[in-house]
Amino acid sequence: MQAILLAGGFGTRLQPLTLTTPKQMLPVLHRPMIEHAVSALAVHGVDRVVLALGYQDDAFRAAYTDGRCAGVELCCVVEPEPLDTAGAIRFAYEASGACGSEGTFLVANGDVITDLDVTAMLRRHRSVAARATIHLIEVADPSRYGVVVTEPGGRVVDFLEKPPPPAASSWINAGTYLMEPSAVELIESGRRVSVEREVFPAMAAAGDLQAFKHNTYWLDAGTPRAYLQAQMDLLDGRRGPAAAGVSPEASLDPGAVVERSVVMAGAVLGDGSLVRGSAVGAAAVVEAGAQVLDSVVGSGARIGRGARVTDGTLIGEGFAVPPATALSAARAPSGD
Ligand code: GDD
Ligand code: MG
Repeated sequence: MQAILLAGGFGTRLQPLTLTTPKQMLPVLHRPMIEHAVSALAVHGVDRVVLALGYQDDAFRAAYTDGRCAGVELCCVVEPEPLDTAGAIRFAYEASGACGSEGTFLVANGDVITDLDVTAMLRRHRSVAARATIHLIEVADPSRYGVVVTEPGGRVVDFLEKPPPPAASSWINAGTYLMEPSAVELIESGRRVSVEREVFPAMAAAGDLQAFKHNTYWLDAGTPRAYLQAQMDLLDGRRGPAAAGVSPEASLDPGAVVERSVVMAGAVLGDGSLVRGSAVGAAAVVEAGAQVLDSVVGSGARIGRGARVTDGTLIGEGFAVPPATALSAARAPSGD
């Protein structure tokens, strides 16, 4: 089966990290986010992935020069301008024709990390002869997602993107879809179209959309907290054996302390530094006595001697935090 992964957004919620690296190329543990998505699909027989790209598309091509990602054939298509989620699906569907698009295919938001059982979802999609099926999961706070109301049999009766509370359902669009070509053909080509605001609501109204409710490991890694959470879950063994966070190619002073964190290759941690609940990027430097708590330090950034970076702070690639500075829930550079 072929999959289209949407990976052309600006990643605004992860700025400044996404000013230099597109969201799906940011590392989650030691691999780019997109590789986690692709390898989870490969397990279920997806053998060709079309990346629907726009913003900083070169970063993807530079990383996968041999046209393969996690053992899967990769095809990159680039919209001339951002066409929004459905416009991107339609564009990728047409542009990847050369890559052999036919039959049922999968579409996923490229920032979703999940252990979804695609095989079971496909079985359900086929058994009801659906035109499109969307994966739903149940969350405590649906407000920042697409809220989906279904009938007992699984047919979607309403799709409301990020509605104001109270939400009509606790089941949300988990960002993985199975689609027949006839569903894609509903999308007008050549203009911006949102799958969440136009296509799915219209299909729901026509009784043409099915849901697959499946609670499993799932995370949209597109916010600072969730981006860190995705990495903590791997370190904590919430998705299989606990992963090692500190790269053997990082350089740690014997007086540096690392707790429950990712430290990437080439990073340098000085004497008396403390890194906890955080991700320190490749070749970043945490100088002596500096602290990084529940935060992300972009690659090549430098945390000056005695500085404190805490509470969901994001430090952009190559940025230098001056010695003895305190940054809490901050973004540096701030972009203002
Ligand atoms: N190619 C392309 N072109 N990709 C795009 C574009 C575009 O114009 N706009 C967004 N994307 C990609 C993003 O890169 C991301 O992978 C995906 O589409 C979804 O965009 P997000 O910006 O991450 O959306 P969201 O997280 O606010 O909401 C979406 O995901 C939720 C679940 O994670 C929606 O699909 C919600 O309904 C859903 O609940
Ligand atoms: Mg998202």
